[in-house]
Amino acid sequence: MTSIEQEAPGVVIEDLGVSFGDTHVLKGVTLTIKHGEFFAFLGPSGSGKSTLLRAIAGFGPRPTGRILVQGHDITDLPPWKRDVGMVFQSYALWPHMTVRKNVAFGLEERKLTRNEIDERVEKALDMVGLLKLAGRRPSQLSGGQQQRIALARTIVIEPKVLLLDEPLSNLDANLRIQMRRDIRELQQKLQLTTIFVTHDQEEANTTSDQMAVLDQGVIQQVGPPMELYDNPVNLFVAKFLGTANIIKGTVIPNDGAPVFRTDRGMDIPLSRKHSNGSSIVFRPQNVDVCAAGAGGGEAHAKLLGKVVQVEFLGAIIRYGVDVNGDMVLVDHAHKKGESIFQAGDSVDLLIDRESILVLVA
Ligand SMILES: Nc1ncnc2c1ncn2[C@@H]1O[C@H](COP(=O)(O)OP(=O)(O)OP(=O)(O)O)[C@@H](O)[C@H]1O
Ligand SMILES: [Mg+2]
Repeated sequence: MTSIEQEAPGVVIEDLGVSFGDTHVLKGVTLTIKHGEFFAFLGPSGSGKSTLLRAIAGFGPRPTGRILVQGHDITDLPPWKRDVGMVFQSYALWPHMTVRKNVAFGLEERKLTRNEIDERVEKALDMVGLLKLAGRRPSQLSGGQQQRIALARTIVIEPKVLLLDEPLSNLDANLRIQMRRDIRELQQKLQLTTIFVTHDQEEANTTSDQMAVLDQGVIQQVGPPMELYDNPVNLFVAKFLGTANIIKGTVIPNDGAPVFRTDRGMDIPLSRKHSNGSSIVFRPQNVDVCAAGAGGGEAHAKLLGKVVQVEFLGAIIRYGVDVNGDMVLVDHAHKKGESIFQAGDSVDLLIDRESILVLVA
C-alpha cells in the first residue's frame, strides 16, 4: 500500500444516486468511511441498503456521483478491478467443490502460482477457524461453517474493502452472536475497511464503529451507534433505533426553563437547553415509576398517570402508563422478589429532563 492510500479514507461516496428507470432508489448519498473502520448501513426493508452496497461493488445500474476507494475513483471500474470483496446474503458456495477449492477459486482466476494459492488459502481458512475441514464439501458443513467459508473465500483475495450484505440472516440466534463477534475480531486483526448491511439494530450496535441509518434511499444520520440512539436527529431515527415515547405538542418559552405543552393540554417542564420543536422524545428506560406522591425533584419532569398495561419481559418490566390521554412506556429493571405495579395503580412518572429531546419532525 502506498502512503497516499494509507492516508486516504477507506471509502468516499460523493452525492451518489441510483435509479431503476424512473424509480430513484438512492438519492444524494454522501459518506466518508475511514480506513480500517467497521461501518454499518441500517434501515428498513427497501430503504436501499443492498443497492448502495452493490453500487460500491460495481453491480447494478451506473450511479450518478462518485465512489473512491483509498483515494482512487472506482466509479467506472468493473467489479473485478475494484479491490472490493463482497459476501452476498445467499453465500452460494459451489456444492461440487471442497472447502479448499471454494476458497482457492478466486485466486486461481487471478492466475497466482500454486504455492501462493495454497499458502493464502491455508491462512484464510485458519483465520475463520476451519482449516481442519478443508477437505469437506459444503453439504457436510453447518450453516455457520458455510458462512465462514463464504467469508474466507472473500478475504483470501485480500480486498481493500469488505462488503457484507446481511451475512448472518440465515443463522440461528446463538450462532449469529458468535459469528458477529468472529467477524468483528477478524476485521480488527486485518484492519480491513468493512461495510456491513443489516436491518437488525443490535447487530449494527455491537459490531460497528459508525453507522448510517437509511430511509427511502436517503441517509438520515451518521455516527457511532450510541450517539444515534441517544441523539437521533428526527423521529424516524428515534423510532427505528429502539422504543421511543413520542408526544406531540409545542414548546412554550419561559423565563427559566421552557415548558412543553402537549396537544392534550399537559405541561412537561424541559431543561434550559431545549429549543423549538413539535414533539418530545424520550426512551422508556429514562423514566422512573413510583407510587403516586412518593418522589420527585428538580432533575425530573413529574407526571401523574395510571398503569394500563404490565409486560414481564424477563430482565425488564415494561409498563404502559396513561398520562392525560397519552400512553407512556416505562422500562423498569426487574429484580427478583421486588413487588410490581398492577393495571389500575396510580403512579408518578419521573422523566430525566436531560434525556428529553425536542424534535421538529
Ligand atoms: N433491479 C431492480 N429494479 C427495480 N427496482 C429495484 C431493483 N432492485 C431494487 N429495487 C428497488 O429498490 C429499493 C431498494 O432495494 P434494496 O434491495 O436496496 O433494499 P434493502 O434496503 O436492501 O432492503 P432489504 O432489507 O429488504 O434487503 C426497493 O424499493 C426495491 O424494490
Ligand atoms: Mg437488502
